[in-house]
Amino acid sequence: MTLEIIPSGQACGAEIRGVDLTAPLDAETIADIRAAWLDYQVLSFPDQEMSDADLERFTLYFGPFGDDPFIAPIPGHEHIIAVQRAADETAPIFAESWHTDWSFQPEPPSGTCLFGITIPPQGGDTLFANQYLALEQMPADLREKLEGQKAIHSAKNAYAPGGMYGDSDKANGRSMTIIASPEAEAVHLHDIIRVHPETGRESIFGTAGYITGFDGMTPEDGWELLTELYRWQTRPEFQYRQSWQENMLVMWDNRCLLHMATGGYPGHDRLLHRTTIGAA
Ligand code: SIN
Repeated sequence: MTLEIIPSGQACGAEIRGVDLTAPLDAETIADIRAAWLDYQVLSFPDQEMSDADLERFTLYFGPFGDDPFIAPIPGHEHIIAVQRAADETAPIFAESWHTDWSFQPEPPSGTCLFGITIPPQGGDTLFANQYLALEQMPADLREKLEGQKAIHSAKNAYAPGGMYGDSDKANGRSMTIIASPEAEAVHLHDIIRVHPETGRESIFGTAGYITGFDGMTPEDGWELLTELYRWQTRPEFQYRQSWQENMLVMWDNRCLLHMATGGYPGHDRLLHRTTIGAA
């Protein structure tokens, strides 16, 4: 099977054709997809009428399932969560801020797969920011400030009872089942500049949000550095915009990207099924 790879022409991203993800894949095709994933960081596969079982099988070609805390899985599929929003929902859009999935875990996941089921006629794009590129083009003075620093990652601002999806979110009528917990207060340190374990390339890892500061810095100094980094790493020239179609699978590499959801579809339902590729 020969993959057709159509680069987006943006900071990352490619569309993949010439493969049927509803059937088991052979080793050569899996290796080709992995190579394209490492080269382009975000891959979209349009026109794939995948079932949940197909999504699970595809995910496991690239690593074990990751651990998805704080969000209830869909019935009968413990490793799939529904990213969903009802047409009349008024809760803040889920994940509408730059982040790297579950970067607060001791071993953060390698990647994420997201499959489009109900896609609004406009809006709801997913944005990505290439953190290899952001590091390569970073001004020397900012890089110097980051060199050797360990970032403090925590889910508390999002998933602790006092966080964005905690107690105050309960009255919002959110259609996703988010389970806030004091466990979100836990912290883990990760180098802010990390070497990607498969490509050997250096990248920035994470951003303000799940990163709450830097080890050994005062909160004020840490916040100043975080905001300077945030302004740099999310610049438009590092971004790729993914528009969605029904029956489209998108997979991305969490080790070298940030991503965020966007709104712009009031009055329309949106539903995608998501799996997490754990660290290998
Ligand atoms: C996510 O961060 O997994 C959600 C992305 C999206 O809804 O576009």
